[in-house]
Amino acid sequence: MRNFIFGVIFTLLLLAAGALAFLLLGYMPTNADSKPPHMESRIANNALDASMDRHAPRITSPLPATDDNLIEGMKIYTMNCSGCHGTLDKKPSPQAHSFYPPPPQVILHPLDDPDWHIYYSIRTGIRYTAMPAWNTVLKEDEMWKVTLFLSHLEKLPAAVQDQWQKAYGAPAPSAPEGSSPQQEH
Ligand code: HEC
Repeated sequence: MRNFIFGVIFTLLLLAAGALAFLLLGYMPTNADSKPPHMESRIANNALDASMDRHAPRITSPLPATDDNLIEGMKIYTMNCSGCHGTLDKKPSPQAHSFYPPPPQVILHPLDDPDWHIYYSIRTGIRYTAMPAWNTVLKEDEMWKVTLFLSHLEKLPAAVQDQWQKAYGAPAPSAPEGSSPQQEH
């Protein structure tokens, strides 16, 4: 029994040493211009969702989704987020594949996450990715406005859709029917 336990500990140490050597001898690639393998994305995305479920407070927006707040959210998005997540004229970001993991193209593939989840990603950022924590750059109400904008993308009121069309020369994403769930994380 004792030998068995020593065997297990020895194997674990060997694996840890192997992983460390793999990293320190430079076998881990650092280039950000490749697509994460399917299995890696799946594990990372499931771990991200599980961590958010555990850490993010289930809060509701202190601001209502009025036309004004959604239009403000649209402007905040354009100024700060569209370079990575896609512009409102529906073109994918030129940098969509320059990051590892790539930023989800949220205008082309609207998110279906609840407000608390979107807000938490924005406020705290996402570790080991290009997604910054915005709490030092945006004010509390600005983070909520952009959250509301993203969670209402497929159900924007007519006045906001008009403003979108006027400012960006493309129609706002239509109502949920036929909506495409988010494909790239
Ligand atoms: C420098 C590039 C960059 C900028 C600028 C950026 N993001 Fe991100 N964002 C990312 C990346 C990369 C991810 C994906 C992280 C991952 O795969 O887990 C991400 C993820 C997210 C998510 C999580 C999506 C999910 O699947 O849960 C949200 C929400 C988000 N960003 C919103 C925003 C908002 C709002 C802004 C502007 C205030 C913004 N981002 C600005 C790169 C960026």
